Amino acid sequence: MKDFIFQIPRKTEIGFSKSRGIAKIIKKMELKKILIVIDYNLKKMGIIDNIFNDLKEENVSFTIFDNIKNEPTITEVDQVINDLNIAYNYNGIVGIGGGSTIDVTKLLAVSGSIEGSIKNYIGTNLIDKPGIPMIMIPTTSGTGAEATPNAIVKDKKEGWKKGVVSPYLIPDLVIIDPELTLSLPPKVTAETGIDAFTHAIECFICKRANAMSDLFALSSMRLISRNLRRVVKDGSNKEARYNMALASFYGGIAITNSGTGGVHALAYPLGGKYDMSHGLSNSILLAEVMEFNAKAVPEKFVKIAEVMAIEATDLSEEQAIKSTVDEIRKLVDNVGITIEGFQVSKQILNDLSKLAMHEQRLLWNNPRPITYKVAREIYKNALLKK
Ligand SMILES: [Fe+2]
Repeated sequence: MKDFIFQIPRKTEIGFSKSRGIAKIIKKMELKKILIVIDYNLKKMGIIDNIFNDLKEENVSFTIFDNIKNEPTITEVDQVINDLNIAYNYNGIVGIGGGSTIDVTKLLAVSGSIEGSIKNYIGTNLIDKPGIPMIMIPTTSGTGAEATPNAIVKDKKEGWKKGVVSPYLIPDLVIIDPELTLSLPPKVTAETGIDAFTHAIECFICKRANAMSDLFALSSMRLISRNLRRVVKDGSNKEARYNMALASFYGGIAITNSGTGGVHALAYPLGGKYDMSHGLSNSILLAEVMEFNAKAVPEKFVKIAEVMAIEATDLSEEQAIKSTVDEIRKLVDNVGITIEGFQVSKQILNDLSKLAMHEQRLLWNNPRPITYKVAREIYKNALLKK
């Protein structure tokens, strides 16, 4: 009986080789001055050559911008916005890459609608006009950024990550082409896959969860628990890649309509201050935060057990929680995620816990309150155990 709003990208095309049809789509949308934003590595690896060939064959003129750093800072994004003068030079933008590229592309798309630094737009609903049409083509299965109204940037000075959140950042068109993920190395596949799982589970148990976000969150968890191990073991498994691409997109839809919580709140300081990748940060915190959260929403963990194919029919709520948390821990372990070499001191634990308290946008949504003391305990368990 909860009131809620449901938002989703205007159109999504899903399937192998779908990205090769982009030229026709751009022509149909009558976008004449296109900027294509891509990960530098992607161009080097040649996995998007087919997209460029398609554009050339159809005589679509485009400019490429490939100077996106992984997990960029506010200053770097401000600089790019300044250099490119998007609103004046382009009438459409395409983002091809992982989460960082997609997030920067979103900010570039709305750059004509904002004034001054993007720092002024950190927060929710602060952009009041749409930008130019944006098309997103994800090349990893994890962030789900192609479906969300969020753009995450790093504040290097303060050492934490911040989000610009606006419905105007939801893409107009998403093309999900699992072919682009076939050559992802196992480490990236594993870490981004657990990031997607984290989105789904957090969106399902958090305060903003609703009937429709639950549909996507549960389906995402079902797909990931059945396909992530397979795809890490054999990256060329097309069916498993397809299912992971879908699961990641579902996770993004769940974020848009519900939201993440404690895992992401505690993961951001690891990325912001210690440059740990987003997927890895989430992966090492996931089971610990879930063990803590389960007491607040035990009935939801029974449902999670079901979608993860844990035989929970004869289990008590308490047993179902334990089995679910164990299964999550096993999944992270099975896909080979480790933080070997990360040195933890008392000071680091204090710093991380202090930084996590800045993430009130996410902590508020967590089903159980996470205080400084709780955060420190979670960090200690997660970082010392490995
Ligand atoms: Fe995430």
